[in-house]
Amino acid sequence: MAPALVAPIARAIKDDRVTALAAALGALRTSGALDDPALFPEPNFGRYARKLVWADPGLRFVIVGMTWAPGQGTPLHDHGGLWGGEIVIHGVMAETTYELTERIDDRWRFVRGEEHLVAAGSVGLLSPPNEYHALRNAGDTTAHTLHIYSADLTRSRAFDELGDGSYHARSVELSYDA
Ligand SMILES: [Fe+2]
Repeated sequence: MAPALVAPIARAIKDDRVTALAAALGALRTSGALDDPALFPEPNFGRYARKLVWADPGLRFVIVGMTWAPGQGTPLHDHGGLWGGEIVIHGVMAETTYELTERIDDRWRFVRGEEHLVAAGSVGLLSPPNEYHALRNAGDTTAHTLHIYSADLTRSRAFDELGDGSYHARSVELSYDA
């Protein structure tokens, strides 16, 4: 992987600020460093595809490329308490953010925000406790996104709505397709 991509992200992670990460991702996109097709896996039929692009040797961060066929998306999920950022490279994504308002044992309550469209070039930031969202490809072409997490994200929680406004959490293993 080109140091052109890794070094600015490593610097932003070292600064420990999501704003620095957002600026680094924006500058990388402008420079064309995120246009490399090798950053993104082939699409999957069943679900969006994840590719581990770079794992920092000290695991202070990972860079993950994702490919979303039209209609593919995630349930409401968390990010294991990690902070990070994501940028849309191709296509149009839709994001719905959720605010956790209460958790009693395994009954979670969230306030759902409006779904909003995220165009190519837009950066989203994860900063716990603001780490709950759902993403989907809202367009009719394949979408590519690049995600930075402050450690390897191999397990997260997905939330299933119980019908009374509360949610049940299940642990989800996140594997890499490439
Ligand atoms: Fe996410």
